[in-house]
Amino acid sequence: MLRVETNNLAKFVTEDEVKNIKPQLELAAQQLRTRISPGNDFLGWLDWPCDLEAVELERIKAAADEIRTQCEVFVVIGIGGSYLGAQAALSALGSTFPQLLNGAERGAPLVLFAGHHLSSRYMADLLDYLADKEVALNVISKSGTTTEPAIAFRLLRKFLVEKYGREEAMWRIYVTTDPNKGALRGFAATQGCTSFAVPSDIGGRYSVLTAVGLLPLAVAGVDVAALLAGAAAMRERLKDEKDDNPAYKYAAARNILLRKGYDIEILVSYEPGLYYLAEWWKQLFGESEGKNQRGIFPAAVNNSTDLHSMGQYIQEGRRALFETVLEIAEPGRDLSIPREDDDADQLNYLAERPLSEVNQGALEATVLAHVDGGVPNLRICLPKLDASTLGGLFYFFEYSCALSGLLNGVNPFDQPGVEAYKINMFALLGKPGYEAAGAELRNRLNGERV
Ligand code: PA5
Repeated sequence: MLRVETNNLAKFVTEDEVKNIKPQLELAAQQLRTRISPGNDFLGWLDWPCDLEAVELERIKAAADEIRTQCEVFVVIGIGGSYLGAQAALSALGSTFPQLLNGAERGAPLVLFAGHHLSSRYMADLLDYLADKEVALNVISKSGTTTEPAIAFRLLRKFLVEKYGREEAMWRIYVTTDPNKGALRGFAATQGCTSFAVPSDIGGRYSVLTAVGLLPLAVAGVDVAALLAGAAAMRERLKDEKDDNPAYKYAAARNILLRKGYDIEILVSYEPGLYYLAEWWKQLFGESEGKNQRGIFPAAVNNSTDLHSMGQYIQEGRRALFETVLEIAEPGRDLSIPREDDDADQLNYLAERPLSEVNQGALEATVLAHVDGGVPNLRICLPKLDASTLGGLFYFFEYSCALSGLLNGVNPFDQPGVEAYKINMFALLGKPGYEAAGAELRNRLNGERV
């Protein structure tokens, strides 16, 4: 069962502060429950683990079975909330080296991602890699108009049509988009592609448990029913538990710390497979909370790797940081450290002990050192990482994020700020309708370059 431990906050947060913030948390929870919070037209994720109809889940699984017979490589095209959840779950639950396994060893197509940036080198390398493979695509965009995935889809669609001919190419394209509107919904309808819906009332970063995450994960062989069941169990727990509610504890601690000037939160993990979970978490909290000149800046480190880079700053740099350590009790796989007779490297004091014990030692030692250095520490503990506990963790973070945003007086479900760069990019690249803005920006650029 997921636990939030706050004993390493004692130096930084008082019991009174925790008591005083509780009514605000209960108000935020009530706003969510009664659907009167800001952004209340995007609360579909709250009940989604129970609302998803069995028939839709079966349709996703059936499509996944078809895709597994169709291809060796399944390319998922999307950006932000349209890819990070699937990438996070695949890295957390799958093999560390999926590319190095053959199909039989992996037991499923290799899932690769595209459309999450504009790198020409990445796309050219991807197209080269796909040339002699059997390929299927999943294009995911709720709006259907996001530039990065739209360009990747154009390139990969051309590749597919040239490789298989139009009719077969369309059979190999799976579309996940808004249920009723947008360019991709029209494309799926006219081309006869199999399609899935991102529910209208669920925003991208809250969509991992919809077809957005479920289809790629089912293709890769993840037990998506267990993922959803874990999320549903967490929903029950957070809805009813008042006194030891882990989401209340987490949201309370981070907001008390924010009000005391700790405005950078670092999500810390000790498992490379959790790198993308941290990327997903950064998007969830960053896009939800960072607005109206407010919000905690979400950062992440992957230890012990980053103890040899960011560790110095965290120990002794500017004191505005707090850490949330993600601790997984059972590592999944383990190794015993070998004994050597000559002990030339002086590691025999660790001989025959599990490597996971050394990793845990690094975690405990680091927490103590950072607390001594003035860095408040929270811990989110999971007994193990599997589809069910991960589903619970996704839901826990979504709910905690919504509570935190409401506590901090922002709408956690919109992202108006991401438009600014897009408008400039359209203007600079000459998109019709942006001519005047383009001329002004070019003048600014020329001026700045002189
Ligand atoms: O959380 C969000 O809504 C965003 O990060 C979107 O997921 C991201 O911008 C991609 O949008 P779309 O799915 O419309 O292409």
